[in-house]
Amino acid sequence: MPTHLLDDLDAWRKAWLDARNDPDGFWLRITHDLIAWRRQPSRGLDGSYLTLREGPITWFADGTLNVTESCIDRHAQAHPDKVAILWEGDEPGDVRRITYAELLDLTSRAANVLLEAGIQKGDRVIIYMGMVPEAAIAMLACARIGAIHSVVFGGFSAEALRDRVRDCAAEVVITQNVGLRGGRTLPLKATVDQAIQGESSVRRVLVLHRAPAPDTHLHPLRDLDWHQALAAASPVCPPVECAAEDPLFILYTSGSTGRPKGLLHTTGGYITYVAWTHRQVFGLQPDDIYACMADVGWITGHSYIVYGPLANGATTFMFESTPTYPDAGRYWDMVERHRLSIFYTAPTAIRAIAAQGDAHVTRYDRSSLRVLGSVGEPINPEAWRWYHDVVGEGRCPVVDTWWQTETGGICISPLHGATPTKPGAATLPLPGIIPALLDGDGHLIWGPGEGYLCLEHPWPGQARTVWGDHDRYIATYFSAYAGRYFTGDGCRRDADGYHWITGRVDDVLNVSGHRMGTAEFESALQSHDSVAEAAVVGFPHPIKGQGVYAFVVLQPQAETPDAFFDDLNRLIREHIGAHARVDRFQLAPALPKTRSGKVMRRILRKIVEEQPEQLGDLSTLADPQVVQALLAGYIPA
Ligand code: WTA
Repeated sequence: MPTHLLDDLDAWRKAWLDARNDPDGFWLRITHDLIAWRRQPSRGLDGSYLTLREGPITWFADGTLNVTESCIDRHAQAHPDKVAILWEGDEPGDVRRITYAELLDLTSRAANVLLEAGIQKGDRVIIYMGMVPEAAIAMLACARIGAIHSVVFGGFSAEALRDRVRDCAAEVVITQNVGLRGGRTLPLKATVDQAIQGESSVRRVLVLHRAPAPDTHLHPLRDLDWHQALAAASPVCPPVECAAEDPLFILYTSGSTGRPKGLLHTTGGYITYVAWTHRQVFGLQPDDIYACMADVGWITGHSYIVYGPLANGATTFMFESTPTYPDAGRYWDMVERHRLSIFYTAPTAIRAIAAQGDAHVTRYDRSSLRVLGSVGEPINPEAWRWYHDVVGEGRCPVVDTWWQTETGGICISPLHGATPTKPGAATLPLPGIIPALLDGDGHLIWGPGEGYLCLEHPWPGQARTVWGDHDRYIATYFSAYAGRYFTGDGCRRDADGYHWITGRVDDVLNVSGHRMGTAEFESALQSHDSVAEAAVVGFPHPIKGQGVYAFVVLQPQAETPDAFFDDLNRLIREHIGAHARVDRFQLAPALPKTRSGKVMRRILRKIVEEQPEQLGDLSTLADPQVVQALLAGYIPA
């Protein structure tokens, strides 16, 4: 039975072989079991990585469903009073509990508000909010009527938000008057106003009043108050029947080049994959209080705060604040008060808290914890051991889950104690996932080795395309290695077949688990009048995983006033958002370039990784002298 928990390595091996030998049969059995379909699908996968030019792959193409029936209605019927969303606000002890019955009521009302605003199946809605239950409700309300949501992380700037609104031609934005985080107030509504100023596709802005903020302005013809609108709306909204491959959401993510891409996730395959992986990886039990500390603005929040846990009828925890507010004990204080049993966070948070000393952990009762999860970046063995030994008292398995916005759900990870772990290893692929390591020449590496991580065969949760740019999707992910999905990560496989993710091999930065493109930084820096050129690379950072290092070439005769670097960081904040910042600047006479004018980032990376002895072949550089100048001006931590 596919919904049985895989509880030892033999069970994992058998399921993995089943999924490889008969993927259609494997996933059809799972989806029939886990998901409430209107019309059960009879087809599994159609298409392949080699036929993407003819159109995206599809899963379960002849099935129809509405994901909110899987995530809400059936649980509201079976256990209406079970808490669906357990929320804690910025201030400790500010708690809300929303049952499945209430979630159905609120989602239906919000869906009716969207319908009244003229939103129809296939229309786009941007959600720009903090971590409030209404963010999840807004997502589900879109899904209820077949509208496509695109959640934009609340830290993004007006300019970044405007780009996203434009790219998907959103008609409604859902936001808050202000957001609260770590005792600070974030002007979310004011940022929306700025983003949609002038000509815009946005017709309505729905505004949740989160906290008193005297200067929030509601535009009388355009803006609606969330509470008033929901109170006036009907609590009944019949779910719209969607095809399995109808879009569910767009999520923008940074890549190597250009602007962020809107990855498109669809309905039937996505919900199947996140429900199943959530259940298997964490070994979900009916009475678990499951807590993921991610933000709904990122894929982890989509798949493992909202869709996966709710599809499984779990109690999912939502947290508005930060791990260090009011102090570094906040997580464990909540573990004790809410009896959290599964706890899922990012290595950067673990390292930040560990640095504050064990007492912040040990003064709270963690006996409710059963499974610990890690996501978003490689976890160093030291942080892994601290998480396992101190937080989990050595009794909770740590699941280090590797995956991406593009993969929709977890791909390589131990299973809840079934898989023997090694500190720092993401271990084994989930059933349905077939990893392949390739060397620089595109040859497969068999057995132990290190190379570029690709995945061989489609799985149901995979993003289907880039919104509005299918060619870019193919070029980005499927052109490096024909017939394979290229992840952008490096990976080592050991003699036990375990996978150790080494990090990005492309120009994507991962700072505190936030994914950002070097190209976005560079275009912000180059918008300064005094900057002729800039190149940005990541350097190893003890807490954030990666820090951001910028090489800046000035315009001839440019002045650099005292606050020059602060000005540059202000520009970055305006272009990208408050979560983006350069840690170290180096003024450079020039950048190392090939004779054809391409910046050789490999060399810059080696400089900031403090490995000048490994600079490699410099003979292709137009001017090898540049490297000496950069090494001389390097600013160590
Ligand atoms: C990195 C987040 C090592 C990786 C879910 C990937 C990881 C990128 C891990 C995707 C992990 C995520 N170990 N690296 N357990 N999880 N990554 O799209 O580089 O925000 O390509 O998705 O994060 O980031 P994204």
